[in-house]
Amino acid sequence: MTAIAEKPLVEIQGLHKYYGHHHVLRGIDLTVNQGEVSVVIGPSGSGKSTMLRCVNLLETISAGRISVGGSLIGYREVNGRLHDLKAKEIAAQRREIGMVFQRFNLFPHKTALQNVMEAPVQVKGQPKDVAKKRALELLDRVGLADRSGHYPSQLSGGQQQRVAIARALAMDPELMLFDEPTSALDPELVGDVLNVMKDLAKSGMTMIVVTHEIGFAREVGDRLTFMDGGVVVESGDPREVLSNPQHARTKEFLSRVL
Ligand SMILES: Nc1ncnc2c1ncn2[C@@H]1O[C@H](COP(=O)(O)OP(=O)(O)O)[C@@H](O)[C@H]1O
Ligand SMILES: [Mg+2]
Repeated sequence: MTAIAEKPLVEIQGLHKYYGHHHVLRGIDLTVNQGEVSVVIGPSGSGKSTMLRCVNLLETISAGRISVGGSLIGYREVNGRLHDLKAKEIAAQRREIGMVFQRFNLFPHKTALQNVMEAPVQVKGQPKDVAKKRALELLDRVGLADRSGHYPSQLSGGQQQRVAIARALAMDPELMLFDEPTSALDPELVGDVLNVMKDLAKSGMTMIVVTHEIGFAREVGDRLTFMDGGVVVESGDPREVLSNPQHARTKEFLSRVL
């Protein structure tokens, strides 16, 4: 979807990540404007999940900086020096970012409704009736109004993933991260999840989406970034990158997935 204002919401600059001696991210730069859908593709092991996990403070970064909504993620800068944020401040930053994983990670002993209500009640201290009303609205939005009383085991993978999206939205995040949200689904269930994501994009949500769904990238993405070996190989208008890739590695990858 076309960004209304060219205002950066996410700025990743010179991001490096090591796991021990393993240099997984080797200087990633990525800017996502407010309201943009930024799609990231690349082979397995290229560092896509690690990058998302750094944005969401699930990993500490080794070098570089990430800011979301103008705030540095994980640190405070005082006189040019970075100081670690306290656990409480990190928790507050994470609340602004919704994340949807390949595996849905719903609470198995809670209904769809209870899953969506959980964080607003427990983390934000919302009154139960307020959280319930909003959760029912969100379940309706993802096409599951009639499934609110179902447990995860009574739902298909696609339905569970849509509950997971509603659950993330219940915290009113300013940014949504998706890490291969349809990769674990049977093919016939993928479309419903992608449609929910498309509607979310239309509503103006800023999104970073790691996916192998090239059709989604072409149709919904404002930007397509190809990562390989912990670097951004190329990044640009999705239609441009897909029809006219500039780098041999991008061409080779696309020839395998298209
Ligand atoms: N917690 C971890 N500890 C050590 N190595 C990891 C960890 N997580 C990921 N890696 C390694 O980092 C590299 C990038 O992984 P990942 O970000 O999951 O790639 P992608 O999502 O693109 O498949 C891989 O070589 C992977 O084995
Ligand atoms: Mg991954």
